[in-house]
This record gives sequence, structure tokens and C-alpha cells, in this order.
Amino acid sequence: MSQPGLGCAKLTEKGLAAKSMKLNRLKLINFKNYLELNIDFTEGINCILGKNGMGKTNLLDAIHYISMTRSAINSVDQQNIAHGQPFFAINTELDNKGEARKVNCYFEKGKKKIIKVDGKEVEKLSNHIGTVPCVLITPDDTDIIREGGEFRRKFFDSVLSQYNKEYMTLLINMNRLLKQRNSFLKNNEGNLKIDKQLLDIYDESLIPIFRKVSKIRKEFIEGFIPFFNNNYQLIFEGAESPDIHYKSDILEEHFENEFKNALQKDIIMQRTSMGAHKDDYIFRLNGRPIKKFGSQGQQKSFIIALKLAEYDYLKSQIGFEPLLLLDDIFDKLDDQRIEHLVELLSDQARFHQIFITDAREERSRAFFKDIVGVSFQKIEDGDLLSPA
Ligand SMILES: Nc1ncnc2c1ncn2[C@@H]1O[C@H](COP(=O)(O)OP(=O)(O)OP(=O)(O)O)[C@@H](O)[C@H]1O
Ligand SMILES: [Mg+2]
Repeated sequence: MSQPGLGCAKLTEKGLAAKSMKLNRLKLINFKNYLELNIDFTEGINCILGKNGMGKTNLLDAIHYISMTRSAINSVDQQNIAHGQPFFAINTELDNKGEARKVNCYFEKGKKKIIKVDGKEVEKLSNHIGTVPCVLITPDDTDIIREGGEFRRKFFDSVLSQYNKEYMTLLINMNRLLKQRNSFLKNNEGNLKIDKQLLDIYDESLIPIFRKVSKIRKEFIEGFIPFFNNNYQLIFEGAESPDIHYKSDILEEHFENEFKNALQKDIIMQRTSMGAHKDDYIFRLNGRPIKKFGSQGQQKSFIIALKLAEYDYLKSQIGFEPLLLLDDIFDKLDDQRIEHLVELLSDQARFHQIFITDAREERSRAFFKDIVGVSFQKIEDGDLLSPA
């Protein structure tokens, strides 16, 4: 059995610590089912074990808060305060490419959420995104396949927003203009004699933004697909052929005309029916939509390859390894797929720090038995059991 810290020296010798992000210590107060927790992490693979409902996902969610300023599970901050308590605090000590950094998140009922980096409050929360980059894979991620286009757009938008501030600003502007255009259409109550001049003003701003958003998405997906294919082949070995196709009205030759021709429909429907907010990404396996024909294991495999591609892509853009959070990653996978995945994750040149949760302790211990740089910690009812 490996102990915390065992893989650390090895990785440091390789010099990886100097150029990477590492979470050394996490302190939780009143966060979900944790009243007080102090936990240290190592480089390499941190395996968090514990039975159902013990707090494994909550622990990863706390790290997600520090990275993305919000929960990945419950978007209502107040519901993430431990029942009956007035506030929560998430305090972290990180190694940011060789420099010590403290990132804290504090939320008190009825007040605004505060993020501090090295004691200094972050003025705009959206500016914090990218400071502690992370990629999280959760069981709910298969919604990205199964649900509507909105889920896929949200996924790819969040990948892009983690490193491309210009894109994030474009999206904010696009959503603001769409909201204004839609509420104008709603207030008009379907009257075909609408004030077209005012609509033209919205459209003159919206159409160039649609074009820019779509151009960035198209270029991004072209760069992203090789990472995705590579991961899929590494884990699932060639038998299946996946692909991703970006679908957008804006790529049509006569988009502007079609957008204008859709006005009557927009007036009747009281919303904007064409544009980048309707883009989709079609996921296929062996030429067929995976949403309709993929098995649970195949869908999970597709998502893992998608998220690991997110990791690789982000790393290629920012120049260092994001934190990798894997919640219940082995569920639904057969032993052969798990074995390949474990092999891939144990590539120390590729990943710097990984957090994996598993409710089946024996499974993780068996699969990681011969892997260097794995530490195990066990959680029970919001407390750390020691030794694991
Ligand atoms: N605001 C809160 N206050 C107190 N407890 C909470 C709060 N929010 C969630 N919980 C509790 O946290 C526990 C769930 O923790 P978590 O989802 O991290 O479990 P888990 O170890 O990941 O379990 P599983 O193996 O089933 O995925 C539940 O018992 C839930 O009631
Ligand atoms: Mg869980």
C-alpha cells in the first residue's frame, strides 16, 4: 500500500513541481457534510475512498469551488452551507508553479460570496476563473450526451472560457443582447407590425457577435478533436470509432438572409430562433448518434475521452497541468477499460495531480496496487480516517 507523499519525491526529482499547479492542503469549515476537515494531498494520484454518502463528491466539489467559484453540483451557494450553520469556508494552500499561493472561498447566508487570493479579495468572480484550472469528471456528465444542445454548448463554452477571456466577454455580450431582443419580442405579443428599426439595432450588434463566437468554436473544435480521438483510442483501443461534428446556422452561406427571413417566425414564437445560441455538437460512435444508440459504458467512455481531451487542450493552452478531479470514474466500465484508464492516469509525465473517488475501496486498491505515486485517504461521515 502506498502512503501519502510516496510519489511526491519521484515527481519532484523530475522537475514537474516547478511548472505545475498542486493543491497541498484543504481546510473546510461548515461545507456540506463537513463541519471541520483538514486534509493534505500529494502529487500523483490521490485516491479518496469511502462508502456512499460519506462526502467524497463534496470534497471534490470544494476544490471545484476554489477553481470555478461555484459548486459543480448545487448552484445555490446557501444549500452548500452545512445544515444549521451560518456560513462555509474553503481554504486552500497551493503550489502555483513553484510559488506558494492561498486561495480561499467564504460564503455567509444573505451576503456575497468572497474569493481571496493570497489574502486579497477578487473583485470580479469571473476574473478568478483560470487562476486554479481544473477539469472535473462526474457521473452526471453523461447528461452532456443525453440532454439537449444547451448542455453540449455549456461544456465547450466552459472549456473555452477557462483560457479565452475574449470569448467569455463575447458570450456575456451575446447573452445580454439576446435577452434584450427576446424580451422586446415578448413585449410585442406577436404583433407583426413590430418596430423593425429597433430590432435592426439589436441585429447589427448580434450578427457580428454570432460570427465571432462561431468562428472561435469552429477553430477550437478542430484543435480539440485530435486530443479527443487520441484519448479514446488510448483507453478503448480502436474497436470503436467516435466523432464530434460542430453544427451551426452561422456556417451556412446565407446565414444573414436566413436570420432576417426568420423574423416573422421570431415575432410569432416571441424568441430568437437562429444564431450561435442554437449551435450544437453532434456526438457519434461508429457513425451513429451515441445519444440514441450508445450503451451506458460506451457513453461513459465517450465522456471520459471528452473530458481528458479538455484536460489536454487546456494544458496545451495554459502551459501547465490543471488539477484533475475524477468522481466515481470507474462506475459502469468493464475491467479491461478500467485497466487501460489506470495505465493512462499513471503516466506521471502527463498528469501532475489527480483526485479520484471510489466507493468500492477494494477495487481501487487492486487496480492501483502496482502503480507508483498513489496515496489513499478514507472519509467517513465528513471526517478523515487515519491511517487510510
Ligand atoms: N448542506 C449540507 N449540509 C449537510 N450535509 C449535506 C449538505 N449537502 C449535502 N449533504 C450531505 O452530503 C452527503 C453526500 O455526500 P457526497 O455526495 O459527497 O457522498 P459520496 O461519498 O460522494 O457518496 P457516493 O459514493 O454515493 O457518491 C449526503 O449525506 C448529503 O445529505
Ligand atoms: Mg459521490
